[in-house]
Amino acid sequence: MKKLLTALKRCVVLGAAALAIVSLQPVSAAQAAERVVGGTRAAQGEFPFMVRLSMGCGGALYTQQIVLTAAHCVGSTGPNTGITATAGVVDLQNSSGRVQVRSTYVYRAPGYNGTGKDWALIKLAQPINLPTLKIATTTQYNSGTFTVAGWGANREGGAQQRYLLKANVPFVSDAQCRSYSGYSGLVANEEICAGLPSGGVDTCQGDSGGPMFRRDASNAWIQVGIVSWGIGCARPNAPGVYTEVSTFASAIASAASSL
Ligand code: ARG
Repeated sequence: MKKLLTALKRCVVLGAAALAIVSLQPVSAAQAAERVVGGTRAAQGEFPFMVRLSMGCGGALYTQQIVLTAAHCVGSTGPNTGITATAGVVDLQNSSGRVQVRSTYVYRAPGYNGTGKDWALIKLAQPINLPTLKIATTTQYNSGTFTVAGWGANREGGAQQRYLLKANVPFVSDAQCRSYSGYSGLVANEEICAGLPSGGVDTCQGDSGGPMFRRDASNAWIQVGIVSWGIGCARPNAPGVYTEVSTFASAIASAASSL
């Protein structure tokens, strides 16, 4: 059962399965009214590195031809032309503004087995001429307030979004995070938690693979996390769990240079 629950909460487009776990806890009226959960609409061009992937995940441009996403969003490493990346728009239905490029290859984190190591790279058929998002290579930015963005559900059990939503979530220490019900399996050096004790603001189903980021010392955006999992969405005492990018920065860089 533990294993099943772990699989369920990792979800991507596990519609029915996700609903099953979701239905265990009704969404509050306050939560239902909110909109990522508890967020607001991103402005066109605000996060130009954001990518929507056709399997129902997010991602970020690591280079103009490589998307960084979650391992649980993709299949095994190898040639793959089945993924379409959409970028350049906050409105996914803006067909004149958007850029769509197919995948050519997927690289899934070596050793990924559903616990930790939740990162993957997708090589695109052509470069996309948009700004990339640099990744944290040290732990120095693994604190403070983070921004998250995505086209995923705006409430637990809710629909995928047409417009990109954004929100801010505070860092949660490994010790604090692990103390919450359902989080004892946290892989402390590979995962980083963020969220409010009271809930209300979080990533949700369909945001997976997207970046969690903040400003660096030069005021540039820097990616510190990858949306991975959580118990429900935006519940109290149930933070979002993100892949700790700094831990994998050198593995990501060397994999990318081989693609
Ligand atoms: N596993 C989800 C997905 O595939 C992401 C869940 C994030 N959940 C959270 N409460 N932060 O889209």
